[in-house]
Amino acid sequence: MLIKKAVDIRSSEITPESVYRQRRSLIKALVAGGALAAAGPALALGRYDLSEDAKRYPGPDWLQGKLRAAKADDGIPNEPLTPYPHVTGHNNFYEFGLDKQDPKAKAQGLVTDPWSVEVAGEAAKTGRYNLEDLLKPHALEERIYRMRCVEGWSMVIPWVGLPLADLIKRLEPTANAKYVEFTTLHDPAQMPGQRGFFSTLDWPYVEGLRMDEARHPLTLLAVGVYGDALPPQNGAPFRLVVPWKYGFKSIKSIVRIRFTEQMPAVTWNQTAPNEYGFYANVNPNVDHPRWSQATERRLPSSLFSPNIIDTRMFNGYADEVAHLYSGMDLRKWF
Ligand code: MTE
Repeated sequence: MLIKKAVDIRSSEITPESVYRQRRSLIKALVAGGALAAAGPALALGRYDLSEDAKRYPGPDWLQGKLRAAKADDGIPNEPLTPYPHVTGHNNFYEFGLDKQDPKAKAQGLVTDPWSVEVAGEAAKTGRYNLEDLLKPHALEERIYRMRCVEGWSMVIPWVGLPLADLIKRLEPTANAKYVEFTTLHDPAQMPGQRGFFSTLDWPYVEGLRMDEARHPLTLLAVGVYGDALPPQNGAPFRLVVPWKYGFKSIKSIVRIRFTEQMPAVTWNQTAPNEYGFYANVNPNVDHPRWSQATERRLPSSLFSPNIIDTRMFNGYADEVAHLYSGMDLRKWF
């Protein structure tokens, strides 16, 4: 992955943290007063105070009610949300180009509804599904997670989605299923980064998880962010979010889910095996050949306020996930 210049965001576009906190206090007060459903605060479209000129993504009709009913997350103490313009304007989505600004500039025409998903391999419920049908039985929830890119920047993002474990259960993997593989759309007509001479990777983009990682309660299939549907540049209509792994594991715009006995051949590992491992767990003790992984630049950051913080083992989720790797040499299985 190439390091590109940080997106230039006007300070007027940044949602003040204080506004977000005020909102959360208001929601909590309403809940305490019984004004909101007892099941917990639900997201409302427009709950987040975004700048007036922020482009909003309400999503298809079938998704809007589900997004509004999603159970809200209280956030990570002392770690403010990364402002919306950064989350939706500083992206890695090589199908749309290499610059951080390319996905927002070039992905707006991506057709994300209807969307078809193939379920294949070692499972009882294989076949082709409409995304709406696939997600119909699932309630959504907000999950505020850190995201750490292997390039050394990080964000705190309010995703909306469903635990991958819940979907896996419905698909009934067989006892042979040891891994699950995900594939992104391959459509050069819509994805300029997949076209011709400047094509960078061997498409389509593929990622994978071990079954216990896929079933871990932190692993999310996201369909929204900041209370809205996912923008195309963030991987609409649905993507993986694995918060204890480097961001490249969190594959976008998924069209295929395949259960397999063998470890899948995944894109970055195939491209540069000495730089990107299959596991890709965030690990400040194992550097990438070109980048130290000891610290990270929490966005927004600037020349005068670089906002460098220490990177934590498993991106701060060690208590939840370290047991998945007990006995493994994490220098070997990086
Ligand atoms: N998925 C696909 N299909 N193509 C990509 O280029 N980039 C990955 C990941 N998922 C990528 C992808 C990388 S390197 C990162 S850091 C995250 O998406 C970035 O997610 P974001 O743009 O929503 O912040």
